[in-house]
Amino acid sequence: GARRRREAPHPDQDHRLYNLPMQENVAQLESAVDAWKDRGWPLPKVLLVAGSGLAVDVGDRLEGPVPLEEILPFEVRPVVGHAHEFELVEPVPGRPVLYLRGRIHAYQGYDANETVFVVRLARLLGAETLVMTNAAGGLNPAYEPGDLVQIEDHLNLSGMNPLRGSLPAEWGAQFPDMAGAYDPELRAGVRALGEELGVRLQSGVYASVPGPSYETPAEVRMLRSLGADLVGMSTVLEVIAAHHMGMRAACLSVVTNLAAGVTGEPLDHDEVLEAGREAARDLRRLLSALLREPALTGSASSR
Ligand code: HPA
Repeated sequence: GARRRREAPHPDQDHRLYNLPMQENVAQLESAVDAWKDRGWPLPKVLLVAGSGLAVDVGDRLEGPVPLEEILPFEVRPVVGHAHEFELVEPVPGRPVLYLRGRIHAYQGYDANETVFVVRLARLLGAETLVMTNAAGGLNPAYEPGDLVQIEDHLNLSGMNPLRGSLPAEWGAQFPDMAGAYDPELRAGVRALGEELGVRLQSGVYASVPGPSYETPAEVRMLRSLGADLVGMSTVLEVIAAHHMGMRAACLSVVTNLAAGVTGEPLDHDEVLEAGREAARDLRRLLSALLREPALTGSASSR
């Protein structure tokens, strides 16, 4: 007789079998949202993720500093020289900013969902905009250590993606269009603020690599030929998660060094540090101005 056809698994069962880690992640986010609201903390409109050493003064502090562990369902692994805490600040009345000092890096061994946990939490609490800073190696020969560069687009070479698995459909599209992830209007606004403040700001494509080893000279040549202007070990997973959930994103990189083999000259560490300090000053001014511009950090629909 005819062989019995094997029945396809029920879609729900499929989901349970193949997507358990994602379901746990969603449940953890839901409890984090509840815990936040139970504490009566203000709901952030903006998430600011600032690299260490790039502290910003953005007005009245509403809460904090709070250790990051308080809002994460997993252990925080320390990195030397990095803080892991957040504050709630209010540059403009009614527009609280969740200001994260010390990010979660995938190179510490976190998976993609852990790396973007706070981005999703902020979004579920109502945040409309993600603003990030990072340190990056310069690949573009026109860059110098200390330059400030606004990211216009990225190459995700991290080998990871926070959208793997079946995410809740209400979070966003499974196959989101990534053009405009670094929101063009927001970028133009940042550029205009930079001009107003006399801050020299370049624009470039950021390649994210897994790290934590730095690039070999051959890898630097590869990245350059792929069209990257900057290389670093952070940022893109957060931007993918933010864009997926409908947040606007902007990111400013400080070029802390020229990537291996770009100059052929050894770096002068003191010069790099001094350039970094100057860039940090400009970055602070630009970020403070940006966060005081509700027209720029609001959602597209609210403007
Ligand atoms: N490569 C990767 N990540 C970095 C670099 C670099 O040269 N500088 C700062 N972060």
